[in-house]
Amino acid sequence: MTQALREILYTVSPYEGIDPADYPDDLQGWGSDHPVLVAAIEKLRPKRIVEVGSWKGRSAINMARVVRALGLACEIVCVDTWLGSPEHWLRAGPGWYESLALKGGYPQLYYTFMSNVIRHGFQDIVTPMPMTSESAAVVLAHLKISFDLAYIDAAHEYAPAKRDFVAYWDLLTDNGTMIGDDYIIWPGVTQAANEFALERRLNIVGEPGKFVVSKAGGAMPSIKL
Ligand SMILES: C[S@@+](CC[C@H](N)C(=O)[O-])C[C@H]1O[C@@H](n2cnc3c(N)ncnc32)[C@H](O)[C@@H]1O
Repeated sequence: MTQALREILYTVSPYEGIDPADYPDDLQGWGSDHPVLVAAIEKLRPKRIVEVGSWKGRSAINMARVVRALGLACEIVCVDTWLGSPEHWLRAGPGWYESLALKGGYPQLYYTFMSNVIRHGFQDIVTPMPMTSESAAVVLAHLKISFDLAYIDAAHEYAPAKRDFVAYWDLLTDNGTMIGDDYIIWPGVTQAANEFALERRLNIVGEPGKFVVSKAGGAMPSIKL
């Protein structure tokens, strides 16, 4: 039985004291319902998933739904600062800045995420890890926590995207798979993903929006995009 990271990180449930009635029922996301996320969980039957970049929880909740439907004993660890990305602060899309839900100048997005998880009843599956992806990777490596599936959807700039691919690839189990968002859409992500795959001599399967790389025999995963 894989020990839940939740038991190591927290002495009381992180959901304790959060009342979803205080936060909007708003599950907006981007590419969060993509079938590759479902296909990967069905194929890998993971014991642990890490999502890097969770925003309001749409992709995490969709994955949790699949985990539950398959009856898997699987924890989904969600790493995010919940402080938003440059594009949210720069108002690059409709309602993105407002979604940060600033209070005293500080985002309350974490509570939107937590409330959404509670509202959909997935507190037993989803564990929040409110840290930078970089710091969380250090904690996870130190604790020797590994993942069967990593979904990377945080920064869109080249340097932090590449750093996430490297750090979370190293946290995958021997047959682990990594899925990345925003491939071909954000140039920094695309460059980082292509370089990463080339340097590690990995087959990368991609289409606008998602890419997949897998450790399984170093071969291309049989996941249909
Ligand atoms: C595109 S959103 C994630 C969307 C989510 N996966 C979905 O489909 O609903 C990107 C998220 O990454 C987070 N983020 C950006 N850079 C980060 C970093 N260096 N460490 C942790 N989180 C980061 C932001 O706070 C934001 O919530």
